[in-house]
Amino acid sequence: MKFKTIIEPFQIKSVAPLNFTTEEERQAALEAAHYNLFLLKAEDVLIDLLTDSGTGAMSEDQWAGMMKGDESYAGATSFYRFEEAVRGITNLKHIIPTHQGRAAERILFGALLQGGEIVPNNTHFDTTRANVEYRRATALDIPNADAHHPQVIKPFKGNMDLEKLESVLAENQGKVPIVMLTVTNNSGGGQPVSMANIRGASEICRKYGVPLFLDACRFAENAWFIKQREEGYAEKTPREIAQEMFSYVDGCTMSAKKDGLANIGGFLALNDDELAEQCKNLLILTEGFPTYGGLAGYDLEAIAVGLQEVLHEDYLRYRIRSVAYLGDILTENGVPIMQPPGGHAIYLDARAMLDQMPVTDYPGWALANALYLAGGIRSVEIGSVMFGRQPDGSEKPAPLELVRLAFPRRTYTQSHVDYLAEVILYVNERRAAIPGYEIVWQAPVLRHFSIQMRPKKGIGD
Ligand code: F0G
Repeated sequence: MKFKTIIEPFQIKSVAPLNFTTEEERQAALEAAHYNLFLLKAEDVLIDLLTDSGTGAMSEDQWAGMMKGDESYAGATSFYRFEEAVRGITNLKHIIPTHQGRAAERILFGALLQGGEIVPNNTHFDTTRANVEYRRATALDIPNADAHHPQVIKPFKGNMDLEKLESVLAENQGKVPIVMLTVTNNSGGGQPVSMANIRGASEICRKYGVPLFLDACRFAENAWFIKQREEGYAEKTPREIAQEMFSYVDGCTMSAKKDGLANIGGFLALNDDELAEQCKNLLILTEGFPTYGGLAGYDLEAIAVGLQEVLHEDYLRYRIRSVAYLGDILTENGVPIMQPPGGHAIYLDARAMLDQMPVTDYPGWALANALYLAGGIRSVEIGSVMFGRQPDGSEKPAPLELVRLAFPRRTYTQSHVDYLAEVILYVNERRAAIPGYEIVWQAPVLRHFSIQMRPKKGIGD
């Protein structure tokens, strides 16, 4: 290509205002939210990077598709369009819509998991872990050795440790009913998993007769990284790469709120007839009839179109570049981030940035709140508040203290990202003054959503 600037591959047709607040207003809002960014009103946030889930902008084709939504209770035309879109990518036999990814997880684990069993995964996302633990089973993370070293630059830091997978399966025969592989590895920094790793995991699982499922939320971003970084894939289309990824697995759970480019929705897809039947029975209990799964017909249409658009090369090139653009500015200015930049987010390494703060003061939480106070940016801690509480109620620091800045899809422009960079650099310069935090109140599971915190006395208070 003649010009090197990668531009947003869309024009803006409908806009929503941003709300500007003063630092005093943000201080009051954060206090009222018990120093928990999840408890803020969105109107008090300027740039919302809490999540890339369901927060993206839909295209004109998605909105047009929604007008064709068939709201029939059973056998809706929209379901068949949705099914065809999912099957065209995954080639899986049974496609079961759900209202979002965690519903697919709950149904799958409800049908498959018994107490005392083990589910290996490169790294479980928080809801996936909680759904495994809710079945009184163990969620076992087996990332590769580089995953916990933010500064190491490797192409596929999302890979699973296949040696460990083999030994877990060999030592726990009959106790592992499923292996999951999360693409990209969200809790591990949005890092991709290589095709070789997916293939290798599949071979090991076959050897032990254990089904392998993808947690496929960000399958298209993962496919793009394979195209860019893995030998033999440069000439393949993202769609061909995605199809190959799914060819090695027995099923998947999917949140269509990510690479479905939709605001709501998800699915469970699998080949096993008997397991599919059990899952459909559970689906009817709480989600709805198997041809709508808790979604409106128009949601199924939005996902069907989104699954096509997410695999466009122009889109993926812009998507991955817009995240790396922020990563490059931060790296050039000495801000420690999880390297290399991930697919959907930049992860600030709060432990390295706030190296004066003990881990027991929750540096990730402290940094996320500081970014909000300084510039109205909402991010999320992926550290000891999210993962530190053990099933037995004890506290153990998480391996990493990260602050995730997740990019909603097709929502913000380059000047928003320039502003973000400026705020982060400003906070970085003043990092020695950021106070640590302590817990005031917490729920027994998934505590980060509702936890109440308070700043410890900062230096000079
Ligand atoms: N798996 C992964 C890897 C995820 O990132 C998520 C959601 C889920 C499963 C659950 O899907 O939200 O549709 O029920 N992640 C969002 C996030 C919430 O912010 O990373 P869901």
